[in-house]
Order: sequence, then structure tokens, then C-alpha cells
Amino acid sequence: MNIGKRISAVVLTGCLVSASALAGDAAAGKAKAASCFGCHGMTGISVNPLWPNLAGQNEQYLVKQLQAFKAGERADPNMTLLSSALSEQDIADIAAWFSSQACK
Ligand code: HEC
Repeated sequence: MNIGKRISAVVLTGCLVSASALAGDAAAGKAKAASCFGCHGMTGISVNPLWPNLAGQNEQYLVKQLQAFKAGERADPNMTLLSSALSEQDIADIAAWFSSQACK
């Protein structure tokens, strides 16, 4: 009984992890992030103090924020519109790009 429960918990956890963690490709992300560079900079260092730096930020955090903008849970006039065009794979790749850049 107990062993059966434990096994199904392990199987379930494995499924959740593989479903939620798309591997990000930083090189593909660089190509996809062209529309972001005007504000966040090519390497994630923003030129305007009103725009956040993304360089070196945690990859999972970036994914989470982009998903939140896309879902309307976090709102910003520019980010809401831009994130709506991104697929889950785009988000993973772009997060990998900015996350891999050195911060100032
Ligand atoms: C017109 C300027 C502009 C463009 C273009 C832009 N952003 Fe943003 N971005 C912002 C601003 C302003 C914020 C802060 C929003 C807020 O205050 O919640 C932000 C926030 C973010 C955040 C959250 C950062 C944090 O620390 O929580 C991420 C991630 C992000 N942008 C990624 C992107 C990506 C990816 C693109 C391209 C698809 C993009 N941005 C294009 C202006 C821009």
C-alpha cells in the first residue's frame, strides 16, 4: 500500500518536472530577442534606468515573469503586448540568453 503510493508520487513528480522545464537555447534566444534589445540592451543591460537589467538574472525567474506577463498576471503596457507573441519555447530560449550574460 505505502510502497504503491510512494511509487506513484515519484512518477507524478517526474512528469511534472519534464512538462514544466523546457530547455532554453541561449543562441536561439539571442536571435529571438531582437525586439527586446531596444529597451533591455543586447546583453541585458538596459540603457534607461526605468527598464530592468536582465543580464545574469536567474533563468527560471525570467521564464516565470514572461509567463506572468503573457498570462496577464503581471501588467506593463510594453511587456504585456510583447510577451503575448512568445511561445513557451521562445520564453525558455530568451531567458537562457539573458541569464547567460554577465551583469555590469
Ligand atoms: C519598450 C521597452 C521594452 C521592450 C521593447 C521590452 N521590455 Fe521587458 N520590460 C520593460 C519594462 C518597462 C519592464 C518593467 C515592467 C514593470 O514595471 O513591471 C520590463 C520588464 C521585463 C521583465 C521582468 C524583469 C524583472 O526583473 O522582473 C522581463 C523578463 C522582460 N521585461 C523581458 C523582455 C523581453 C524578453 C522582451 C522582448 C520580447 C522585452 N522585455 C521587451 C520594457 C521593455
